[in-house]
This record gives sequence, C-alpha cells and structure tokens, in this order.
Amino acid sequence: MEMCAGPWSEQVMDHFMNPRNLGEMEGADSFGIGGDILCGDSMILFLRIRGDVIVDASFLVQGCVAAIASSSVTTELVKGKTLEEAKRILPEDISNALGGLPEHKMHCSVLGAAAIGDAVRRYEEPRGAQ
Ligand code: FES
Repeated sequence: MEMCAGPWSEQVMDHFMNPRNLGEMEGADSFGIGGDILCGDSMILFLRIRGDVIVDASFLVQGCVAAIASSSVTTELVKGKTLEEAKRILPEDISNALGGLPEHKMHCSVLGAAAIGDAVRRYEEPRGAQ
C-alpha cells in the first residue's frame, strides 16, 4: 500500500474513519472488482438489485485512505440508481462526492467506477458467463 499524504477533505476523513456499508453482502445479486495494478489496491463492490434498480450496496477494500473513502462513497452513490445510471458514474463523480481528492490520489477514485462497471456487466451477462 502506498503511503498517503494529505490534505484530505472532511468528507474523505469521514468516510475513512466511518466507512459506510463495509462488509461482504450475503446473497448479493452481483459483485464487481476494481483494482490498480500499479499500487496493488483493490475493492469488491456487492450489489442487491431489484428490477433494474440497485437497492443496496456494500464493499470490501484493501487500500489507501482515498481507496477506502472512495469505496465507501461509491456504495452511497449507486444506491437507488438504475443500472444504466450507475454505469454512467465516473471517477470524477466519486471524487466530487468526497469534496475532491489531491491530484496524485485521483486514480484511487477509479477503483469505485471500475467496480460498478464490472458488477453491472457481470449482472447483465447471461448466467454461466461469469
Ligand atoms: Fe492505490 Fe489509492 S494508492 S488506490
């Protein structure tokens, strides 16, 4: 794990200290993985889906302060969204929801967006293609 230098926004510190929806989800309808091969950090996003709406989300993460905060806020961003809406969530949306990330930590917000895309793709693929 890379050393993390601040300064962090209040929102980053809040999500880091009190991660929302942390943990594996029993009976999840899908999951997605986001990882950064350079720093070695990764997250798994679990989704509960009803119709085409994401009704619940949780996560596991191994990573830096920004990765933990990004993963946490990602679960908040996807809840209540349709699959189509969730697919349009960008790393910038995750960073903005955290009050911004330092330039050199922007890549950490990519984990969440990648995990959303992977989870939705996995859900939409025909069974057996997972
Ligand atoms: Fe790897 Fe933040 S340093 S995700």
